[in-house]
Amino acid sequence: MQHSNRRVNLKATGLRGAYRGRAVRRQMSEQGGECEPPGGPPITVTIGATVPTGFEHTASEEVKEKIGVEAKISKDRGRIYFSITSDNLFQVHRLRSVDNLFVVIEEYDHYQFKESKEETLEELKQLASKLPWTNALEVWKSNRSFKKKKSHRRGTNKPKVKTESDGQETSEVEENEELPEPEDQSSADAETSPPDLEETAEAKVIKFRVTCSRAGDKHSFSSNEAARDFGGAVQEHFQWKADMTKFDIEVLLNIHNEEVVIGIALTEESLHRRNISHFGPTTLRSTLCYGMLRLCKPQPSDIILDPMCGTGAIPLEGAIEFNNAFYIAGDNNDMAVNRTVNNVFHFQKQRVDKGSASGLPIDTVRWNLCNLPMKTSSVDIIITDMPFGKRMGSRKKNWDLYPSCLREMARVVRPGSGKAVLLTQDKKCFTKAVSRMGGLWKKMHTVWVNIGGLHAGVYLLKRTAGEFGQTPEDIYVPKGNGADHREEKDNSETS
Ligand SMILES: C[S@@+](CC[C@H](N)C(=O)[O-])C[C@H]1O[C@@H](n2cnc3c(N)ncnc32)[C@H](O)[C@@H]1O
Repeated sequence: MQHSNRRVNLKATGLRGAYRGRAVRRQMSEQGGECEPPGGPPITVTIGATVPTGFEHTASEEVKEKIGVEAKISKDRGRIYFSITSDNLFQVHRLRSVDNLFVVIEEYDHYQFKESKEETLEELKQLASKLPWTNALEVWKSNRSFKKKKSHRRGTNKPKVKTESDGQETSEVEENEELPEPEDQSSADAETSPPDLEETAEAKVIKFRVTCSRAGDKHSFSSNEAARDFGGAVQEHFQWKADMTKFDIEVLLNIHNEEVVIGIALTEESLHRRNISHFGPTTLRSTLCYGMLRLCKPQPSDIILDPMCGTGAIPLEGAIEFNNAFYIAGDNNDMAVNRTVNNVFHFQKQRVDKGSASGLPIDTVRWNLCNLPMKTSSVDIIITDMPFGKRMGSRKKNWDLYPSCLREMARVVRPGSGKAVLLTQDKKCFTKAVSRMGGLWKKMHTVWVNIGGLHAGVYLLKRTAGEFGQTPEDIYVPKGNGADHREEKDNSETS
């Protein structure tokens, strides 16, 4: 087997080598819950994190800020890698931009897959016993006190291979379907206490599963076959028991063209679900909300609006993470407003239950974005996820909605310093609307993201110094019955 450019060198600290089942169990048991080998220093490992595609740089900035190490970005792949010492593991769970975390066992930049399927699968089987498992298993063991348990699992035992829109496959050694949670369901994100190690390690056989995700068209095997054969060899090597639903360890086999990364999952459920208990049809991942918030750099005492808040995912993440600013969440749909109120209440209650009484700097309102009950030039930042016209609204309506939104946003935001961070998949309509508002908005930066397979843009706009009401795009005449009702003089932007 030829593997070139091995990128990760997991430094063993006196524990290097593959352990067969009983030896590993004895070693774990002897070391109790500690991450350090007896008498030894903390071990150094590489942590991998999946992040919303497009926000890799944001995530690596956060790692630098919170853990103080440089992260390597796997470009356009929604992954970052960084080294930590095991005593810093708790810091990793404080990151807000990461969806899933894993500890790397081994990584190959250019894995030379054999031509035939049989040879390749045979090689994967042999790999299982050659991998340097020790440090990763140590980290997995101490991670159990930080890990949040999945809210609930429902599954079938039917084999399943998920094929993503970009041709990526994912499968597990004995596939189990993870069904999406129904809308408006309360999640029980309760922290779990670490299972008793003696009990897990000695009395019970360790249960595991292998999850393989594969992308690339030059492979002679499927992810299902790789997971099955590699999983079988892992089982044999450690004498663990395969269990797709109630596993202790999830071994990850990530294959992207000729890059192969093998790791152990440190999260059971994506961290993006952390704040929301009442989901809606288009709830945004908290990790993506965090990336959008970082893009607009909230400052203390900023007034920040999400005028189309849906379930309130963006302002809630803001009120938790950038809590020196004040957030107003609004929507024109009663169900959305109720969900936001419930999400804020639920999160707040969890905090109180844990002994923290401080309130969140957030308010919720029912309003129409095209006619906001806000003073002109009173807002610092607008951050919102606009209807794409697919799952929410319609493309046709966007031709009216987007220009009206941009105009009203320009009115309430402070000229010269105000910003907007807007997410949409309807790029054509959005770009046209912005280009016709050149007197009010300047496009600064775009981050391309993937939202459930849809290619979307996060646009950072800066409010020009232009006075509202003075540019050709925003001249209105008041309707006879009140200043709050406006009518367009020039409706050339609408289709
Ligand atoms: C894509 S969803 C937002 C999802 C939200 N980010 C979340 O995480 O749940 C867009 C929202 O815009 C709202 N909306 C559409 N037109 C609006 C308008 N004119 N004024 C206020 N809200 C509007 C819809 O009711 C919907 O909740």
